[in-house]
Amino acid sequence: MKALCWHGKHDIRCDTVPDPVIEHPRDAIVKVSSCAICGSDLHLYNGFVPGMEKGDILGHEFMGEVVEVGPENRRLRVGDRVVVPFTICCGECDQCRRGNFSVCERTNRNKANAEKVFGHSTAGLFGYTHLTGGYAGGQAEYVRVPYADVAPVKIPDGLSDESVLFLGDILPTGWQAAAQCEIQPEDIVAVWGAGPVGQFCILSALLQGAQRVIAIDRVPERLAMAEELGATPLNFGQVSIPEALNEQTRGKGPDKCIDAVGLEAHATGSLDSAYDRVKQAVMLESDRPHVLREMIYVCRPAGVLSVPGVYGGLIDKVPMGALMNKGLTVRTGQTHVNRWTDDLLRRIQRGEFDPSFVISHRVTLEEGPGMYQTFREKQDGCVKVVMRVG
Ligand SMILES: NC(=O)c1ccc[n+]([C@@H]2O[C@H](COP(=O)([O-])OP(=O)(O)OC[C@H]3O[C@@H](n4cnc5c(N)ncnc54)[C@H](O)[C@@H]3O)[C@@H](O)[C@H]2O)c1
Ligand SMILES: [Zn+2]
Ligand SMILES: [Zn+2]
Repeated sequence: MKALCWHGKHDIRCDTVPDPVIEHPRDAIVKVSSCAICGSDLHLYNGFVPGMEKGDILGHEFMGEVVEVGPENRRLRVGDRVVVPFTICCGECDQCRRGNFSVCERTNRNKANAEKVFGHSTAGLFGYTHLTGGYAGGQAEYVRVPYADVAPVKIPDGLSDESVLFLGDILPTGWQAAAQCEIQPEDIVAVWGAGPVGQFCILSALLQGAQRVIAIDRVPERLAMAEELGATPLNFGQVSIPEALNEQTRGKGPDKCIDAVGLEAHATGSLDSAYDRVKQAVMLESDRPHVLREMIYVCRPAGVLSVPGVYGGLIDKVPMGALMNKGLTVRTGQTHVNRWTDDLLRRIQRGEFDPSFVISHRVTLEEGPGMYQTFREKQDGCVKVVMRVG
């Protein structure tokens, strides 16, 4: 089959690889109909996340048709149409029973490595490094889905791929980021990053009742999309974000702050970001926490920082004094996708929103390697790439 494989920094190829097979009686094989490139894939493309090996199949946002089911899988049938969450979960361990699916205690095949790096193992993830199990991803014609009797979301007839594909990752990610803020009716929520995840954070914060949402980015078409959703746009290339946020909140600061940027934050002319770039380049710091620092400084005391943006390792110069004395709460995590999918699917069915508004590029799998570059550079108005397979 054809699949997008990682061969090193900025080197993704559409290779011919062996078809996956059932390895465990609970598995299923899914023939992919649509898949997408996530901002998290860019961290792999840019070589910032450890644990990738040459030839690894990428992709953790995908859906398709079940074409083979293991003998112990009593939930899926051949012919079912499913969206597969990026977090692989067993459904039975202590964490899964609490709904903490992204920290499932069983599905990471490389637990020992993860424990060394993070103290504990987290869930297995599709197409996302050997630290999270080294599972082949879904930017491919076929995928083996382990524990396929737990997470895959069955899609009723009549819904297009584009309207449900993002249930597997970025839509629940935006929803969880907003839910972690426990939004009150008078809240002003600021969202850093107006990429696809940021867009769903904005949508979710508004649906969860925020009085106002402020969107921060510097890419004009992404800010325009945020404004269309109802957010107030701020361009960090043009204004000082701390000053602008103070103005927008009568000096109080946003009540809730969401980091939808993660470890590759850019900044214009700030001393801390120049420092981070140097330290990251010489491997003294793995991540660039400019957004985290900015959120700590501007957030209203007793507020919440919600961090869906991905971080991989160590960060430097975190203003712990401000964080502690202002009494801020930090909530973060890979998304517990299945916690939110039933509700979000119902909302899509009821027509409350159509998540396909973020899609800017529709291409084939073979065009995928080039689209990594386009998405990374935000060329050609690129916000979200969906690949049709087969
Ligand atoms: N927690 C999860 O489960 C989960 C799931 C999906 C994605 N993510 C993460 O969410 C983040 C965003 O993903 P995406 O697909 O939207 O990626 P993206 O790269 O398309 O978007 C990031 C946006 O942040 C903007 N940005 C950069 N520096 C900024 C700054 N200083 N202030 C404000 N904006 C800034 C960029 O211009 C870009 O538009 C990534 O870190 C990704 O790994 C997490
Ligand atoms: Zn993702
Ligand atoms: Zn589990």
